[in-house]
Amino acid sequence: MLPTFLADTRIELAAACDPREAAREQFARDFQAPVFEDIEALAAQGGVDAIYIASPHQFHAAHTRMAAAHGKHVLVEKPMAITLPECDDMVQACAAAGVHLIVGHCHSFDTPYLMSRKLIEAGGLGRVRMIQALNYTDFLYRPRRPEELQTEAGGGVVFSQAAHQVDVVRLLAGSRATRVRAVMGQWDPARPTEGAYSALLWFEDGAFASLTYSGYGRFDSDEWCGWTGEMGSPKDAQAYGQARRRLASVASAEDEARLKAAGTYGGPAWKLPAPGTAAPAHQHFGPVIVSCEHGDLRPMPDALWVYGDSRRERIELPAPAVPRFEVIDELVDAVLHGARPLHDGPWARATLEICLALLTSAREGRDVELSRQVALRE
Ligand SMILES: NC(=O)c1ccc[n+]([C@@H]2O[C@H](COP(=O)([O-])OP(=O)(O)OC[C@H]3O[C@@H](n4cnc5c(N)ncnc54)[C@H](O)[C@@H]3O)[C@@H](O)[C@H]2O)c1
Repeated sequence: MLPTFLADTRIELAAACDPREAAREQFARDFQAPVFEDIEALAAQGGVDAIYIASPHQFHAAHTRMAAAHGKHVLVEKPMAITLPECDDMVQACAAAGVHLIVGHCHSFDTPYLMSRKLIEAGGLGRVRMIQALNYTDFLYRPRRPEELQTEAGGGVVFSQAAHQVDVVRLLAGSRATRVRAVMGQWDPARPTEGAYSALLWFEDGAFASLTYSGYGRFDSDEWCGWTGEMGSPKDAQAYGQARRRLASVASAEDEARLKAAGTYGGPAWKLPAPGTAAPAHQHFGPVIVSCEHGDLRPMPDALWVYGDSRRERIELPAPAVPRFEVIDELVDAVLHGARPLHDGPWARATLEICLALLTSAREGRDVELSRQVALRE
């Protein structure tokens, strides 16, 4: 989110908290603003409207509760949390404090999906009937902390990546999800968590969706998105196998965690993003096709493709000046204008319910009924 915060003039970074000293020193240098080792001290800081919580998943609930207790609005990263009781607690804490809770960035904030939803709501294509969403990445081979490779601690592609894909599919479907069936791939003993899944998701209005993800770092579905990477920048097809090659130099889990920390904020390999280097296209989460009663719709990083009975149409999507400005739109609308955010707590809790149901379905070999779902703007 830092490139967003730096480029969006509606945001001023006023304080930060991180247990790593290097991150605190970097922030104090970059922003001449107070830094704290402890979340409570940050939450108590005056002159702060909202707190962006980007700590590891297992801290999201406690950090949200702390921010709310001090009357701060919350923008918390996906996944919202690791369990549904944690989500309930977050929703309750923010409601009791009268603050907004927004969960993101998540790829359902991306303009191509939001514009697809608008086009669907315009009605010409008829009802959504079927959605195909797939994504093949190198997720599992990026440097990780140990818990990111342990499912029970929130690791693996379901918590971190299905959180995006399920949210995108729910946004496009619009209807409440009812039931899910999934299978998981766990194919590398050295990375003993889910690296792939396929799932079928049913919706109340009769629509259904197929979701497939692989983080095994071989086929890269960005090839099917015009070689535009997840962040909207061109991807170098010649860099094939880069993530696995980089990881090959790592001798232990501690080494790997150090490698990850080196590339994160304040680490020795970390660089402040150059200002004014906006990506030439929108961010995305892999190829998606929405089949409606009267046509198919294909959101791409630079355009929407609409396939009717006798012709196909390309609707240009001009590149964004600020990456992920959509998140700030929602935050500002909520904090300054009191608008109810689309990606609020109940919405994101429903996505986590589906992620957890994918794991249960695969483990128990059965369909799982859903009970905590909400439809769009319900
Ligand atoms: N929306 C997206 O596209 C996206 C992309 C990457 C990560 N994320 C999410 O962001 C979160 C962080 O992931 P990451 O890969 O950046 O992890 P990370 O390991 O880099 O940790 C993020 C930061 O949190 C700090 N931290 C650790 N423990 C903390 C604590 N107790 N209190 C405060 N800060 C603490 C770390 O020092 C680090 O600076 C995860 O929930 C992840 O899912 C979202």
